[in-house]
Amino acid sequence: MANEDLYAAVNDQITHELGAEMQYLSMSFWLERENLHGMANWFRKQAFEEHEHAMKIVSFMNEWDLPITLKSPPNPVTEFESPQAIFEAALAHEQKVTSEINNIFSMAREASIWHIEVAFQWFITEQVEEEVNARDNLAKIKMAGDNPAAIFELDRHLSA
Ligand SMILES: [Fe+2]
Ligand SMILES: [Fe+2]
Repeated sequence: MANEDLYAAVNDQITHELGAEMQYLSMSFWLERENLHGMANWFRKQAFEEHEHAMKIVSFMNEWDLPITLKSPPNPVTEFESPQAIFEAALAHEQKVTSEINNIFSMAREASIWHIEVAFQWFITEQVEEEVNARDNLAKIKMAGDNPAAIFELDRHLSA
């Protein structure tokens, strides 16, 4: 494998993280329209975290003297069937990001580019937490079902 493939994957991860930021903002705006302000707040905070992930990779690439070719993420999904559909999509999105991160880690190890492997250890750990949160939210909204009081309670819980 050429190191160029690894560098391209690291470069493109900036776009994937920005894509996650856009997707979570879109989910936040939809939830806001449904008056689920706590859930909307949770996704907005999540979007800012994704932005920080992108900037973390930018900093790494600058430190490694790798040129950055910034690309636009695809348009986010803007229509959703229900809050539960949003939490399902969020979990699926995190799982996709996990596989992207794992791929970069594997490529770095295969190419013996240790500084990239070590840097991406942080993202491996972060993705575990991201998936835990996404699964937890999905489990809770499934439990709430069609019970308005339970949805209200979950919304309040996520505003904290
Ligand atoms: Fe991320
Ligand atoms: Fe994430």
